[in-house]
Amino acid sequence: MSYWFLDPMLKALFPLALSTTVKGLSSVFSTPTLIMGSNVFPEGPVLGPSVVDIWGARCEKKKAFIVTDEAAERFAKIAAKTLEGGGFATEIWNKALPEAPMSNVKEGGDAMTAFAPDLIVAVGGGSVMDGAKAAWIHYERPDIEYLGAISPLETLGLRKKAIFAAVPTTSGTGSECTGVSVLTDEEVHRKIPLANADLLPDFAVLDPAFTVTMPPKLTVGTGLDALSHAVDTVAIVSSNEITDALALASIEMIFKYLPRAYVEGHDREARFRMHVAASTAGIAFGANSTALTHSFGHSLGGLFKIHHGLACGVFIPYNFQFYAKTSDKFLNIARALRVEGETKEETLNNLVDAMRSFFKKLDVPLTLKDMGIPKDEFEEKMDQLVLYAHEDISTFFSPRPITKAQCEQVFRCAYDGKDIDF
Ligand SMILES: [Fe+2]
Repeated sequence: MSYWFLDPMLKALFPLALSTTVKGLSSVFSTPTLIMGSNVFPEGPVLGPSVVDIWGARCEKKKAFIVTDEAAERFAKIAAKTLEGGGFATEIWNKALPEAPMSNVKEGGDAMTAFAPDLIVAVGGGSVMDGAKAAWIHYERPDIEYLGAISPLETLGLRKKAIFAAVPTTSGTGSECTGVSVLTDEEVHRKIPLANADLLPDFAVLDPAFTVTMPPKLTVGTGLDALSHAVDTVAIVSSNEITDALALASIEMIFKYLPRAYVEGHDREARFRMHVAASTAGIAFGANSTALTHSFGHSLGGLFKIHHGLACGVFIPYNFQFYAKTSDKFLNIARALRVEGETKEETLNNLVDAMRSFFKKLDVPLTLKDMGIPKDEFEEKMDQLVLYAHEDISTFFSPRPITKAQCEQVFRCAYDGKDIDF
């Protein structure tokens, strides 16, 4: 199969093209229109223009196709009710599957085509939003047969039929604020990331009421996804002052509010701040990239069916240690978290300890062994684990180049909980 992220030219060009440190190249920084706070989908009239007024002004046909899954359907119904009150015809498609398998998003695209909307609203977690973006491509560009081959440099030309609004019901993926969609090619059990500026939603709606019933485990898993986005974004070579500011603010918020959201799901302030933190990290990495937490996390998550956020998050401390050999950027994260040390080495150790204590507070396993991955299966899949991590596009944004042999070492250290000292 020909994946865009295996093109050597793109791999070499991508980190370079995003880097503001290279003379003659520029970065584009885009965000959706953010609508934040409670009561975004009111039942009655509100002060000032409501979300339906704003969307209605952009949609002539007033036909809204709402993509969701069974877990988030009740929130989709709230959105549908508000939209219908504003004169929209709606259809709820509740068949989005976890990890957005390609056959499932095609099915969503077919349903979208049959309804012919001019507004697509994705209500759900990362898989729903990512799947809805991919279904949107099928709807607008039926000529594209294999989504995994779409280059980030290609102009997709979406929005000729519909605009796109994302309403997250988890706080982690940041998909509501990125042009990224991570799908699963179920035939090869592989995560397929799409990255294209056209996939950036037109609107992101952050309503904490949609997250208060999120179970504690999912709260933590998605929260660690946001944390992985933020720490990667700070670390990578193509970071800049804007992405650093956003990512560091996100890290601070996550350290402060994720434990509160985990312990007390109905803590509305914690839920709102986590929503903001996830979107903030999303804006930051969307303008930039993730790095090795996601290379390893995509590979591990795809091969062992582990939640994306947990699969990425577990690698954060190991990545700090790996990057520290060539980059001091971990000091910025330490400063944001008020972690200190007499020397750089001591600061690094204290930062790793702070991260591990944070994980313990959230009952998150620190090793792959503690995640319940059987040793024999781990060994059996090692070659594939290494290959997928090494080939992942995020690997090319690492502040320290990594060989396949080093990938294997990182996996082995993460399995047993050993510090990375190479
Ligand atoms: Fe992620």
